Amino acid sequence: MNNRVFLLCVIFGTVTSAIAQNSYYYLKRCRRTDPQINACLQKSANTFIAYMNHGIPELRLAEPEPLVIDEIGIALGNGPNGYRATFRDINAFGVSNMTITAVRSDLDSHQFQFTLFIPHISARAKYVSSGVLILVQASGGGDYWGEYDGVRAKVYVKAQPVTRQGRQHLTLQQIKMDFSVKEIQMGVTQVHNGNAVLEAALNLFINSNAQELLKEMKPDLKKKLTHLLWGFMENTFESIPYDEWII
Ligand SMILES: *[C@@H]1O[C@H](CO)[C@@H](O)[C@H](O)[C@H]1NC(C)=O
Repeated sequence: MNNRVFLLCVIFGTVTSAIAQNSYYYLKRCRRTDPQINACLQKSANTFIAYMNHGIPELRLAEPEPLVIDEIGIALGNGPNGYRATFRDINAFGVSNMTITAVRSDLDSHQFQFTLFIPHISARAKYVSSGVLILVQASGGGDYWGEYDGVRAKVYVKAQPVTRQGRQHLTLQQIKMDFSVKEIQMGVTQVHNGNAVLEAALNLFINSNAQELLKEMKPDLKKKLTHLLWGFMENTFESIPYDEWII
């Protein structure tokens, strides 16, 4: 082989391998033998989030904001006059600012636990309610707003390997999640079927019971978030061969 052909081969080889390596440019690859594997997985997840926030067309991930939840409901008290509220078209802004703060993993059983922090989430929604709250007839509807500071969440993922087109991928078996919010401010506006006195009473009640209300919303919220997360992670696992992430 003369020098020129050799040089061309080297260039061609370098370029093609760079392209091949680049097809999963949004992931940092981790080695299972790495004693700091969890730190590597954390870095990989944060790299992925940073790319995701600019969109990853290959994964059909475009604009990450806002997070939309169709509907959640709460019920306080029993009986025909118990207070029920349904929140619809919930738009949450700020989730993409999340940081993965810790990862625990058991690679033999494909279990992962991600701990994450979101500094601030703003939520807007429509709500309708019925029943009696703090002795007032609180049936009606209006706009809901919520400002959540210091959101911490833990997400537990159990997966198993499958072969797709000759390559090993992960597929989900289980997702569990829980979260807490350090500070909550929320309220309702544009209360129809109501008046200014009712609106003020509702807002006083809502703000002095924010954590309790969140607790009531949690089961529904967790179900919806787990569902969203499931779709997102399954799509990611389907698109990325396991050994592009962990070798
Ligand atoms: C994300 O955080 C930055 C910096 O604090 C802030 O300016 C931005 O508004 C946040 N994004 C959203 C969608 O809340």
